Amino acid sequence: MKALVLAGGTGSRLRPITHTSAKQLVPIANKPVLFYGLEAIRDSGIRDVGIITGETGAEVRGAVGDGSRFGLSVTYIPQEAPLGLAHCVLIAREFLGDDAFLMYLGDNFVINGIRGFVDEFRSRRPDAQLLLTKVADPTQFGVAELDVGGRVIGVAEKPDRPKSDLALAGIYMFTPVIHPIVAELQPGRRGELEITDAIQELILRRADVTSHVITGYWKDTGKVEDMLECNRMVLEGLAPRMSGAVDSESEIIGRMEIAEDAVVVRSRLVGPLSIGPGAVVTDSYVGPFTSVGPGCRLDSTEIEYSIVMDRSSVSGVGRIHNSLIGKEVDISPAASAPRGHQLIVGDHSRVRLDH
Ligand code: DAU
Repeated sequence: MKALVLAGGTGSRLRPITHTSAKQLVPIANKPVLFYGLEAIRDSGIRDVGIITGETGAEVRGAVGDGSRFGLSVTYIPQEAPLGLAHCVLIAREFLGDDAFLMYLGDNFVINGIRGFVDEFRSRRPDAQLLLTKVADPTQFGVAELDVGGRVIGVAEKPDRPKSDLALAGIYMFTPVIHPIVAELQPGRRGELEITDAIQELILRRADVTSHVITGYWKDTGKVEDMLECNRMVLEGLAPRMSGAVDSESEIIGRMEIAEDAVVVRSRLVGPLSIGPGAVVTDSYVGPFTSVGPGCRLDSTEIEYSIVMDRSSVSGVGRIHNSLIGKEVDISPAASAPRGHQLIVGDHSRVRLDH
């Protein structure tokens, strides 16, 4: 069995972060979201992984390498443009051969792994198996309709009138019967080759399409709010680790990870939180559900429920919350007169100022 991981796409809802970085590499508790998926795949017993890459392919390759650090063997499959999830299956045809495969959307996140899901497929061997999860607003997702036995009798992509509240969680198992269907597929409403349409065609051809409903935590991390919420969830379960240096004037409360070479001076840290390697926190408050990336500088700052990515600096600007701050960002006070905010903000940024 193989795995096909989708790490291309545009990441338009995470702009401007995704102007320069792959959305699958945004860190959750200081680890790229994609790495959690690769670890879950390895833990389910799969070794051969094809990774679909787009414009950010070089960065994904740089981060994942040949996969050996995850115990995986990785093959990269570049996609010329984000032409759809089924297009990814089409271009991976040679890599997939005649093996059954797990398809995993690289920005999806499940907390308790996918072993149960993969084992169920191995023992039952349906033609396809879908991972489903109950959601509040099914119109934002692929939606499945089930019969009383849990067999899938219909799927639709982001329907206006969903037939259930069970969303496709972006993790699928397929047998090679999917290939001829994908090869004949036409683009859907959003101009992409939709895997949901291929699954619907499988159902129409009376294939055995089964489902597995996740009871644990699942998130599509495609939006900032989801990313922050996922960060909160992972930090809640963090194994405490204190490798950095904390001075005697600092106060440390709750569960946290302070990585090697991090320095905390005259600050109050209330976990759960993660401070990355080499970060320096001085005269600051870092509150719950915050991840501060490697090499960051926080000075005279209050921050909570936020992600600060690598080598950014925040100093003397009052309280920051619910924020996703990219790499090498500099946030500091303006000159005292005339009063006003000075902004040098990239395309598609969103700034909320407290006035
Ligand atoms: O998150 C679950 C949802 O994922 C499902 O409920 C939907 O049925 C499914 O279509 C998908 O919807 P999204 O609109 O969230 O898909 P998105 O375009 O964000 O792409 C998902 C991942 O696949 C993302 O990591 C980027 C990657 N991708 C996407 C496309 C369209 C590629 O690598 N290549 C592509 O051509």
